[in-house]
Amino acid sequence: MCGIVGYVGFRSAADFLMEGLHRLEYRGYDSAGIAVQQGDRIVVRRQVGQVQELSDLLTRKPVSGSVGIGHTRWATHGETTETNCHPHVGGDGHVVVVHNGVIENHDTLRDWLQQLGYVFHSQTDTEVVAHLIAHHLDEQQRLNGDSDLPAVCLNAVRAALQQIHGTYGLGILFRDCPDMILAARCGSPLVIGVGDDEYFLASDSGPLVGYTKEVVYLSDNELAVLQKDRLQIEHRTTGNVAPAIQTLEQVASDIERGDFEHYMLKEIYEQPHTIENALRGRLDEDEATAVIGGLNLTAQQLRQIDRVVLTACGTSWHAGLVGEYLLEEFARLPTEVEYASELRYRNPPISDRTLVFAITQSGETADTLAAMRECRRKGHPTLAICNVVGSTIAREADGGIYLHAGPEIGVASTKAFTSQVTVLTLLALYLGRMRHLSHPAGKRIIRQLQEMPETIEKTLRCHEQVQEIADRYWQFDNYLYLGRLYNFPVALEGALKLKEISYIHAEGYPAAEMKHGPIALVDEKTPSVFVIPRGGIHPKVVSNMEEVKARRGPVIAIACQDDAEVARIADDVICVPDVEEYLQPLVCAIPLQLLAYHVALLRGCNVDRPRNLAKSVTVE
Ligand code: G6P
Repeated sequence: MCGIVGYVGFRSAADFLMEGLHRLEYRGYDSAGIAVQQGDRIVVRRQVGQVQELSDLLTRKPVSGSVGIGHTRWATHGETTETNCHPHVGGDGHVVVVHNGVIENHDTLRDWLQQLGYVFHSQTDTEVVAHLIAHHLDEQQRLNGDSDLPAVCLNAVRAALQQIHGTYGLGILFRDCPDMILAARCGSPLVIGVGDDEYFLASDSGPLVGYTKEVVYLSDNELAVLQKDRLQIEHRTTGNVAPAIQTLEQVASDIERGDFEHYMLKEIYEQPHTIENALRGRLDEDEATAVIGGLNLTAQQLRQIDRVVLTACGTSWHAGLVGEYLLEEFARLPTEVEYASELRYRNPPISDRTLVFAITQSGETADTLAAMRECRRKGHPTLAICNVVGSTIAREADGGIYLHAGPEIGVASTKAFTSQVTVLTLLALYLGRMRHLSHPAGKRIIRQLQEMPETIEKTLRCHEQVQEIADRYWQFDNYLYLGRLYNFPVALEGALKLKEISYIHAEGYPAAEMKHGPIALVDEKTPSVFVIPRGGIHPKVVSNMEEVKARRGPVIAIACQDDAEVARIADDVICVPDVEEYLQPLVCAIPLQLLAYHVALLRGCNVDRPRNLAKSVTVE
């Protein structure tokens, strides 16, 4: 949540900052602002609303200069008013700060600073940081004079950080040290782009694409000094750190929308390709198993595992539920799926033969990170299934599997879900083949997986049909999503997609469990979306559908082509290819993503930037 950018070099800082903020907007879009060193002062421009509104303001009131910082906000403390917009100014204007994270002791610090005479203009925790640094700057200048101003500023930040409890990614400008940015990280990600006579700063690598391929990921408790010809990094306890430069693999087209109207639609259509990427090089036909290189555990260690815990949030948690079914079916490994926000504070018994996986698209979700750290602290090998290379979770995990899905920018996750399910299928196959799964059974799974990209391509042909159905149903305000076995998590995910982007109340339920409550909601104004492809308990789900129809509830069915029985009962049918039950989540998720997309469009919602949400939830 919240995105920050910074630039020091020779270009127009405002141009880089604004492009960067546009690229980071998925992290928050309540308000945006930049601060640029211009002559002997720091000029701040801030605007409530999306980044484009700040761009419009800058057209009317431009700023020039080649050192600056910027921020796009997802509000935590204080409403979305202009005074709460970042950047925040400390002291009498000699310090300016952007911040991503939460300062937990901001109330105490605010009281103390107010007693010292600092005047607060906002309700944010960030303004506390700005004044705190300003206060220490005054102290340092009083004690040491102005002889080495960069060192004085650095000392002031060091002292301020000692007093702060909480999480932060910070970008800091000093009016009297106009060629420098200080950046500090604890819990909120920051990456530095290394150029020729220029450095870039951002919350993730997106803004750096096209500017540099060399990046340095800051670690927690690191503080960096960025000047156009100098990068210095120090760790709070261990002192100076040599910057570990890594190569950025992304290319500009990965983060562009192309001909698609929205990122979400682009990402839905990328799925044949992203599933192919998740499978690439990971299928061993001879051994009828998956090739998973990054777990950093020996085959012997893996064979000793007798339980798996999957922890995640949001859509990734739904993928985890599919993973539970897969791991239990293929590998006969008891599996539990834990909300990371619960696991981090619970103390469930986890034996040393339990394998813990954090599932996360961004690799930055605060709760998932905390749950992972808690498990690692107890000595459990903790692995990650992650999309973003170089993200905090990817770097801290003991090993893991990348999705290789490319950047997901639409706030509602689509391609990451299907890639997570694909990777979990590979994992289940791999662990299964070490246990009970036979060679022929493994071969069969491999064949089915190999066909998946083409099957998803075929599934996408339902688009027009979905659009027509959306035209008929978009005005309803309540929905049920129902499915069983592998399609229960799909029902949850379908309901979440609709909620997230069209603000319609939708509940996902196991189809039979509906009789224990949700059926009371059924009437002619509450459509039920049944996920009912062919499979073992198809007749049971048909009965559940009849129960809804008997109460005059409209029914939309996601079903296989030529399913006459479903066609007879349902009001509308969206056809998907007939695949093995364990692969149904991959195909059935697609029409539900498209349905949510079109309903949201028809309701005039901002599909890529739904209200109140952010793509990367870096606060708990
Ligand atoms: C947010 C996003 C969801 C995502 C969830 C978990 O809520 O809007 O799309 O599923 O965070 O994120 P992660 O990056 O850990 O998968």
